[in-house]
Amino acid sequence: MSYNEKILDHYENPRNVGSLDKNDPNVGTGLVGAPSCGDVMKLQIKVNDKGVIEDAKFKTFGCGSAIASSSLLTEMIKGKTIENVTKIKNTQIVEELSLPPVKIHCSVLAEDAIKAAIHDYQNKQKH
Ligand code: FES
Ligand code: FES
Repeated sequence: MSYNEKILDHYENPRNVGSLDKNDPNVGTGLVGAPSCGDVMKLQIKVNDKGVIEDAKFKTFGCGSAIASSSLLTEMIKGKTIENVTKIKNTQIVEELSLPPVKIHCSVLAEDAIKAAIHDYQNKQKH
């Protein structure tokens, strides 16, 4: 699949669109916005008792690259431990989708969203 096809595929058939129950103690929610374009991304993870992300959902109100980035990211993180997922960088998304420079912030939005979701999940475990 060429990169163009890959972006289009994630844009036209986004994986894991939807919501998880934000009140579930095992669900972390990240809601972030990109100041430069106003696009908004919500990304949620459900973590099991072994610290593994067993489910991930997103809703993105934004451009095609932001939708493709969040779709790809939810596929990347499922089945991984929180520890491993914190190491994921937006540059991996940029490479995977071959995003052009003007679209790099769309992948940053996805990295920010997963970080915020993990932060929310970890805060819930403390309370
Ligand atoms: Fe701003 Fe893609 S998220 S243009
Ligand atoms: Fe930060 Fe509780 S909200 S530790």
